[in-house]
Amino acid sequence: MRKFVFGMLALGAMALAGCSGGGEGSGGEGGEGKPITVGFSQVGAESEWRTANTRSVKEALAAPEFRLRFSDAQQKQENQIKAIRSFIAQRVDVIAFSPVVESGWETVLREAKAAGIPVVLTDRAVDVSDDSLYVTLIGSDFVEEGRRAARWLIEDSKDKEGPIRVVELQGTVGSAPANDRMRGFKEVIATDPRFQIVRSQSGDFTRAKGKEVMEAFLKAEGGRIDVLFAHNDDMAIGAIQAIEEAGLKPGQDIRIVSIDGVRGAFEAMKAGKLNATVECNPLLGPQLAQLIRDVHAGRQVPKRVVVEEGVYTMDQAAAELPNRKY
Ligand code: AHR
Repeated sequence: MRKFVFGMLALGAMALAGCSGGGEGSGGEGGEGKPITVGFSQVGAESEWRTANTRSVKEALAAPEFRLRFSDAQQKQENQIKAIRSFIAQRVDVIAFSPVVESGWETVLREAKAAGIPVVLTDRAVDVSDDSLYVTLIGSDFVEEGRRAARWLIEDSKDKEGPIRVVELQGTVGSAPANDRMRGFKEVIATDPRFQIVRSQSGDFTRAKGKEVMEAFLKAEGGRIDVLFAHNDDMAIGAIQAIEEAGLKPGQDIRIVSIDGVRGAFEAMKAGKLNATVECNPLLGPQLAQLIRDVHAGRQVPKRVVVEEGVYTMDQAAAELPNRKY
């Protein structure tokens, strides 16, 4: 049911954004029977989402037609830049990476382009002045995810009077999902004057930091927090612990909406501690593998491939939990 939209969306994206081909002279898929060497730089292992994403990518690129060189950046941009330079030095066929933050990629991407190595972005975007520095980006629409969280919240609060005091646990500072989810959420929440975002701070997409920052929010605000919006489920799960330790009931005293839709979130919803999660699908491996094949073979690919996702609430959790794949 939760499938990727390659048909309509990809065609739409091709029409709207134009198409990009792979690196010149990069050869066709299995052209000479040689495997495609892929250098993949992953953000890290900060969340359940990321673990599922890494598994999906590794499984898809374990096929005999690929040789995968995988590098874990431990959430540090300098590690990703080093990894990309090393992939260039090794003359891999394709570089794929999920950029930890949006800015600061121009130089290294120019080096990849000069070496004739096509770059495929997965999950997160980069902010570059020249978009020929990468061939394609496959991933979620993070702005829309933020909007979906806010729309759910407005609907959930339809019988409540204002002010409704919201705290926000943001993702990694400067990352595409943190920037975009904040933007989408604020855009929709601004249409309803009952809502006030009283505190926003980064919890770096991890449970430990989510808990730590929520503790600080609770200390500063006392019992005056009505809603928590967390940019991912892991931070929400950390925050739930902090809320319980403060003697409050997560999901009741503080309504909680987060993003990802990982198994841990469904368990928290089933337990009545999380109210809703907006899905962000990490299972990008098979589609990434196909894009890499196409790019390597010099075939045209859409500049942007968007993933289709939904929103799940507490009352759907028990029925949906056995179907979750991550
Ligand atoms: O880029 C996707 C985000 O990164 C996920 O929402 C989050 O859990 C992860 O760390």
